[in-house]
Amino acid sequence: MTVSREGFLEALGLVRFRADARWTGVLADFDARVFSSREAWPRWMWREILDDGGCVCLVYALPSRGLQARGDVVAAGCVALRAVGEPVRGDAGGGDAEILTLGVAPGWRGRGAGGILLDDLLGHVPRGRAVRLAVREGNEVARGLYDSRGFVSVGRIRRYFGREDGIAMRRDGRD
Ligand SMILES: CC(C)(COP(=O)(O)OP(=O)(O)OC[C@H]1O[C@@H](n2cnc3c(N)ncnc32)[C@H](O)[C@@H]1OP(=O)(O)O)[C@@H](O)C(=O)NCCC(=O)NCCS
Repeated sequence: MTVSREGFLEALGLVRFRADARWTGVLADFDARVFSSREAWPRWMWREILDDGGCVCLVYALPSRGLQARGDVVAAGCVALRAVGEPVRGDAGGGDAEILTLGVAPGWRGRGAGGILLDDLLGHVPRGRAVRLAVREGNEVARGLYDSRGFVSVGRIRRYFGREDGIAMRRDGRD
């Protein structure tokens, strides 16, 4: 049975936000809980992305302790509606959209939030536009998730994540 985003969020008591610059500190704290210190975005990077009108950042959070409270973020992700970085190997062109980050708080994984949030982000990509991303080679959960959403591996990026290679993935544009 397919669960709607609204039904999913309601069942878990989560609220959905489109994040702006006011979320900078909260999202930097969230990243530090979700990613290794090498991968987590520092405040300045969050600020830059949140200020960029070409990026959409979505947050699923618990409303209980007030909005934007530290620790209440359950999942967060951003998509750039056009590529922001250097073209990755295998990228057909600079016009692709790009999943910049996607993370679910440790205690909330494996319950569908990552998939729902990825679908939510992809829903902002203009029709017909391809989407690319880079994922750590050894990140089987994330690769499984992207695979299930139609992304295919298009190249390897040597030492993209410190000593570990990245895998460039891409999904063709959808009608
Ligand atoms: C990757 C991440 C976002 C997935 O979020 P999640 O809420 O745990 O994922 P979901 O429960 O929505 O699962 C979605 C899909 O992921 C894949 N998946 C989930 N757990 C998996 C596992 N243990 N092994 C392999 N694939 C798995 C499956 O394809 C699953 O779809 P299915 O349930 O229909 O089989 C989350 O694990 C996370 O935040 N990890 C740390 C940060 C990170 O690595 N982010 C990605 C950076 S590119």
